Amino acid sequence: MFTPVIMAGGSGSRLWPLSRQNLPKQFLDLDGTGTSLLQQTLGRLSGLEHAEPVVVTNEKYRFLVAEQLRLSETSSLATVLEPCSRNTAPAIALAAFTLLQHGDDTVMLVLASDHHFTRPKELHEAISEALPLAEQGRLVTFGITPTRAETGYGYIKTGTPLGGNGFQIDAFAEKPNAATAAAYVAGGEHLWNSGMFMFRASTYLHELEQHAPEIFAHCKAAMNAGSHDMDFIRPDKTLFSQCSDNSIDYAIMEQTLNACVMAMDAGWSDIGSWQSLWESSAQDSDGNATYGDTCLHNTHNSLVHAHHRHVATIGLDDHVVVETKDAVLVAHKSETQKVKEIVEYLKANN
Ligand code: GDD
Ligand code: MG
Repeated sequence: MFTPVIMAGGSGSRLWPLSRQNLPKQFLDLDGTGTSLLQQTLGRLSGLEHAEPVVVTNEKYRFLVAEQLRLSETSSLATVLEPCSRNTAPAIALAAFTLLQHGDDTVMLVLASDHHFTRPKELHEAISEALPLAEQGRLVTFGITPTRAETGYGYIKTGTPLGGNGFQIDAFAEKPNAATAAAYVAGGEHLWNSGMFMFRASTYLHELEQHAPEIFAHCKAAMNAGSHDMDFIRPDKTLFSQCSDNSIDYAIMEQTLNACVMAMDAGWSDIGSWQSLWESSAQDSDGNATYGDTCLHNTHNSLVHAHHRHVATIGLDDHVVVETKDAVLVAHKSETQKVKEIVEYLKANN
């Protein structure tokens, strides 16, 4: 038995102009299924024996999360509302403290809310295989065989086999530069970190206290001074805002000696950029993925997302066109990681 912990507080800025500060990607139907990425994350758990999930999100998304839980017919054990964003290391700490406050040192299955799987059965098998390792006090992550030198992911060097698909982690490198990522992929000894984790609440907090004592102390104090109404948990704003901003990957996974990886082949992808949405979408014989009212002529390997108007393209290769009510993005597919820079520029100049 484990408790799903769903991280749903990111801003999804690389998927602008569809993903916005007030309605980020996890709440959107990006792949035309009629359900949001968060609903898909909740739905993917069905068939596994688990406790009610904990959702960790930003205070400003509380109504969106409540609505999505309702649409998914899921009742959560708690929804933790961060007063400001401090990234995933603090977000997971708040969930771990919440579980311990409920008197339960349960195994947490920490899930991102921006992932896509084509083989959920293999995912379920990997989760079941990881559970005993997490129960024994290890930090387990889930590894994917890399297919390109992606710089937006963490890389795991696998070590001693632990039986089945499990391996000790020899080294963990978060978001390496392009040359390092290429060397890792060529070397054949690294897996991508999928960004899903499994460990006991107490194991995570123990590691956090060791490797990021300041984050541990601020999260603990913010929870002790926080409040709750119904199943909403609100850490204290002043104390939580003093916590530094860091992800679990840098704060814990790069430091710990207690981590292992479960290799899985579940058709995983992270819907982190327009390029990755194109990759995980159904494509026509020209390699195009289209959403909405579109007409493509002599266009190849492109993604066209139309929302309010008819969008036509002629003679485009490897491009992304995303049309919304008030903004249109046209980008080369290989440069879609840089959409984040446009969002930062717009924020600074508007
Ligand atoms: N509650 C909360 N608060 N959630 C957050 C916050 C926060 O401050 N920041 C991010 N999240 C959520 C996002 O909504 C997403 O579901 C998840 O945490 C991961 O955050 P991302 O920002 O998408 O991380 P990433 O994609 O750059 O990197 C992570 O995932 C990669 C694979 O997708 C890392 O774990 C990498 O190592 C990994 O390869
Ligand atoms: Mg991501």
